[in-house]
Amino acid sequence: MPCTHLPLLLLVLVFLFPLSACAKNNKAITIIKGNQTILSLQSIFRLGFFIPSTNGNWYLGIWYASSPKPVYVWVANRNRPVSDPDSSTLELTSTGYLILSNSRDGVVWRTDNKDPATGYRFSDSGNLILTGKNGSPVWQSFQNPTDTWLPGMNVTSRTAFTSWRTPSDPSPGLYSLRLSPSFNEFQLLHNETTPYWSTGNWTGESFLGVPEMTVPYIYSFHFDYPYTPAASFRYIVTPTSDSAPGVGQPRLSRFVVDSNGQLKQWTSEMQNWITFWSQPEDQCRVHALCGQLGFCSSTSKLLTPSACMCIRGFLPKNAAAWESMDYSDGCSREYGDSCDGRDTFEAVGDLRYDGVVQMSRLPQVSKSSCEKSCLGNCSCVGFYHNYKSNLCKMLLEPPMNIKNSSSWTGTTDDVLYIRDQIKKSSKRSVSTSIIILCCVVGSISVLGSTLFVLLILLRKSEKTKKEEEDGFAVLNLKVFSFKELHKATNGFSEKLGHGGFGAVFKGTLHDSSTFVAVKRLERPGSGEGEFRAEVCTIGNIQHVNLVRLRGFCSENLHRLLVYDYMPNGSLSSYLSRTSPKLLSWETRFRIALGTAKGIAYLHEGCRDCIIHCDIKPENILLDSDYNAKVSDFGLAKLVGRDFSRVLATMRGTWGYVAPEWISGLPITTKADVYSFGMTLLELIGGRRNVVSDTPGGEKEEKEPEKWFFPPWAAREIIQGNVDSVVDARLNGEYNSEEATRMATVAIWCIQDNEEIRPAMGTVVKMLEGVVEVTVPPPPKLIQALVSGDSYNGVGNGLSGTSCSEGRGCSDLMTGLSSPGSRSSFGGKPPPSL
Ligand SMILES: *[C@@H]1O[C@H](CO)[C@@H](O)[C@H](O)[C@H]1NC(C)=O
Ligand SMILES: *[C@@H]1O[C@H](CO)[C@@H](O)[C@H](O)[C@H]1NC(C)=O
Ligand SMILES: *[C@@H]1O[C@H](CO)[C@@H](O)[C@H](O)[C@H]1NC(C)=O
Ligand SMILES: *[C@@H]1O[C@H](CO)[C@@H](O)[C@H](O)[C@H]1NC(C)=O
Ligand SMILES: *[C@@H]1O[C@H](CO)[C@@H](O)[C@H](O)[C@H]1NC(C)=O
Ligand SMILES: *[C@@H]1O[C@H](CO)[C@@H](O)[C@H](O)[C@H]1NC(C)=O
Repeated sequence: MPCTHLPLLLLVLVFLFPLSACAKNNKAITIIKGNQTILSLQSIFRLGFFIPSTNGNWYLGIWYASSPKPVYVWVANRNRPVSDPDSSTLELTSTGYLILSNSRDGVVWRTDNKDPATGYRFSDSGNLILTGKNGSPVWQSFQNPTDTWLPGMNVTSRTAFTSWRTPSDPSPGLYSLRLSPSFNEFQLLHNETTPYWSTGNWTGESFLGVPEMTVPYIYSFHFDYPYTPAASFRYIVTPTSDSAPGVGQPRLSRFVVDSNGQLKQWTSEMQNWITFWSQPEDQCRVHALCGQLGFCSSTSKLLTPSACMCIRGFLPKNAAAWESMDYSDGCSREYGDSCDGRDTFEAVGDLRYDGVVQMSRLPQVSKSSCEKSCLGNCSCVGFYHNYKSNLCKMLLEPPMNIKNSSSWTGTTDDVLYIRDQIKKSSKRSVSTSIIILCCVVGSISVLGSTLFVLLILLRKSEKTKKEEEDGFAVLNLKVFSFKELHKATNGFSEKLGHGGFGAVFKGTLHDSSTFVAVKRLERPGSGEGEFRAEVCTIGNIQHVNLVRLRGFCSENLHRLLVYDYMPNGSLSSYLSRTSPKLLSWETRFRIALGTAKGIAYLHEGCRDCIIHCDIKPENILLDSDYNAKVSDFGLAKLVGRDFSRVLATMRGTWGYVAPEWISGLPITTKADVYSFGMTLLELIGGRRNVVSDTPGGEKEEKEPEKWFFPPWAAREIIQGNVDSVVDARLNGEYNSEEATRMATVAIWCIQDNEEIRPAMGTVVKMLEGVVEVTVPPPPKLIQALVSGDSYNGVGNGLSGTSCSEGRGCSDLMTGLSSPGSRSSFGGKPPPSL
């Protein structure tokens, strides 16, 4: 026995000696203790302990120092949280490892570097680096990422990004992103096994399924050694000139595999995070999102926060998890699983699933024998029966990825029947008493609220008898009947105009002194409830430079909006050279400033930011004093959330469309800034940007060909020749300081890179002269449009592939490449008018 101890003792001696020697030379370095944090060099990232939910679990992580709401980009101990930060430390041990320990929980996390580290660095890219003797990295957080892919981070065959379990639980979730085993594409995987989305193969400059990568924008992607095990992919955010007004900090950006399986790219703008891109676009294409027997509906998430539901007769297996947005456990029967020969079947409709499910096919079987076969096998959860072919397909395990067949292409005559448990009598009595209790409580509260409502109504009816005649008021909005509006507009006889969303008619309310403009929405995309919700949002937005919504009508398929009437019409009617009406410089400047204030209010003043999406002179109305009022805000959302309708209507007026529209990328408020810049040019020049003889457009007799004003105007303005751009009909009667400011702001607004464009609030200050306006760089894309070269690549990249979402990209490209619009305007002056 003593003999066996001898080698052990030797071993201990051998190991202890160098260890203690090391400890003498190299003291352990405590990096973080308790609630301390460290900042990267330029204070972009912060490293420290954080607690993502209220369950008492603390983690060591990295987050953006400037974000008001913490956004975590890296977590060290995602598998083993610590119970408190006060007794936790992050230290670089004397042996050269980074360890995270807690006096109670011990060592919960450590690095696995091969060479010992002697120092560390926390870079401004968000990388925590351990350095060895010669200063070279021996371990990097960038090589051990969590769920976030930051600019500058190299993705190799050894890197995987794994989602958080839920938005407030950093432990590893079910979804991950990795380079495929053939090193040529990225894949999103469920449970590390089932791929459900991929980028498509690398083509040399982009992935097949992500052609938008090639759009010349602030991101650039690099793929070194594709198709080999040494493959390494990264992206960087191109630095932009910091001289841009209103843009203080570089744009932050990150890709995240979110806990519900989507890969999302976020960018920050003025302290806000905006989803810039995401895949799969349809959340329901995320594999197993709703678990077994869960049902995914992409449209439902407009009304409820989650896309997941249980099919009829089923409840979430783990209600608490569903509550925290983890649906992976799926659904189970209300009364638990059992196998009873008396079970019944319920038709749940034409639901389909995808993925592999163990199944047994019985050809030429009637529905009742199909049912019988299913009853005889306890693994059978239900069956599909086709009444035409009499094909019976028994499901021997609960299916996942169940969707409504309406979101499916192709139809069959299959109907899904799901096994329904015989309800146990004891359980039924429990549930009955619950139901009774609910009924009692429910009826009491219904009674209470009815009384309350009655009281309010009584008081209201005393106060506003007159209003009652027009219908009842919703907030400050009046609900009109269709009949009323039909009468008010004299049978929709006096048409004021036709906008992107429908025709507008003049109307008179019953007191016959108040004029209104009634907009009849064409092809309204939304249902009644959604329409009302949106209208209430729009109705609550009030600003002197926004047209006021007075009320609405939503009856059967009619959707009408009733606005204040603007006696001086739209700005567009003053912009024709043949128009007899001329706006003075003072009025033009006031319109520019008012419009900017109205849009700025939409962007920054409301509770939810509203992107107008269709700023153009037609949507800028003038009241009796020529004050600008922006109209049609909020409608883009109402008519179609995917903007496809807006895009379609923009085809004719592509001069206002920001480059991001073309790239098919999500749109931010800066798209409005771009359109506003284009509108400013028209206001200064007293002319349209595109002079054409399109049907319905104005005909300019002397114009031999179409001519695109902005590139020429931009060049003149940048060279300081603002005079040549200002409307000649003013005969020089304008404030040249204001004109220079306005013209320069216009060019800032139409910058290709949305980051350089000032925010609308800044535009207001620039116009007011509160913020200095420097000389902008020339916007290149509009030049390219007329010279017709460099932009071709984008067109080719986009045509044919992933613009299938009905976004109308191809429509737009048609508009851009129409032969007339790029005829010949390299540097020519405007044709004489
Ligand atoms: C950090 O902890 C110390 C001691 O526990 C406390 O005095 C101090 O206020 C804390 N600081 C912050 C910023 O919470
Ligand atoms: C990523 O790869 C590039 C090129 O191989 C290299 O220059 C860069 O240092 C790498 N970045 C990191 C963080 O390892
Ligand atoms: C994930 O995969 C493991 C092993 O392949 C399996 O045991 C587990 O049940 C799977 N989890 C889910 C949610 O599919
Ligand atoms: C993608 O690349 C792989 C491996 O090189 C190849 O087998 C596959 O056919 C390619 N797919 C497409 C759609 O080109
Ligand atoms: C259910 O049916 C499948 C396929 O026919 C069979 O493999 C399985 O053993 C059956 N299970 C029972 C419990 O009968
Ligand atoms: C499937 O879609 C149809 C039509 O949109 C709808 O009536 C039905 O209720 C949906 N089914 C489920 C289970 O939601």
